Amino acid sequence: TTMFHTLLTYRRKDQERMITEADVVKLPYLQAAVKESMRLQPVAPLLLPHLVVEEGMEIGGYAVPKGAAIIFNSWSIMRDPATWERPEEFMPERFLGKTELGMWGKEVKFIPLGTGRRLCPALPMVELLVPFMVASMLHALEWRLPHGMPPDQVDVTERYTSNDILLMDVPLKVVPMVAT
Ligand code: HEM
Repeated sequence: TTMFHTLLTYRRKDQERMITEADVVKLPYLQAAVKESMRLQPVAPLLLPHLVVEEGMEIGGYAVPKGAAIIFNSWSIMRDPATWERPEEFMPERFLGKTELGMWGKEVKFIPLGTGRRLCPALPMVELLVPFMVASMLHALEWRLPHGMPPDQVDVTERYTSNDILLMDVPLKVVPMVAT
């Protein structure tokens, strides 16, 4: 509920024109809401498997042999109560004014697109397009849940596919309505 109400306050008053990239830069709360969604529901919750290519690697005090496959649990890293306050809650505010918490994985606590050399190569596109698409859809249309369903009844149970993609178990159904 909070997410939808807050996002909707960013709807532009004039419906005459479409959202532009310049508008999206001026929507810090929307950017923060996108990041918060990626924190709680990362598309690839185990990133991609990595391979240790050097001898003498150490992770968290453990010696890791060359040739070992490493799987990063970004889902749990991004919900770690040691680094995130109230990690289970959807609170976009936590990203406001935190430029270091971008999508580039500079801080290991937030790695929705990975970090380091294996970072998702589509990152510049994702960073620009995802907030832009969300803003455009919110600007152009009103959104309702089907059959007058209240927002707190949306089933947000998660499900992993066999190739490590995180989905909603019950697909979200929303109804776009033309804004008048
Ligand atoms: C919201 C959209 C996207 C998300 C959340 C996402 C996320 C990720 C993640 C988490 C990884 C693994 C990084 C790691 O293991 O450290 C990855 C890798 C990768 N992504 Fe994306 N990605 C997105 C869109 C795309 C798109 C649109 C493309 C292609 C046009 C793409 C191409 C790739 C490729 C090729 C890799 C492998 C890079 C490597 O292993 O060196 N991604 N992505």
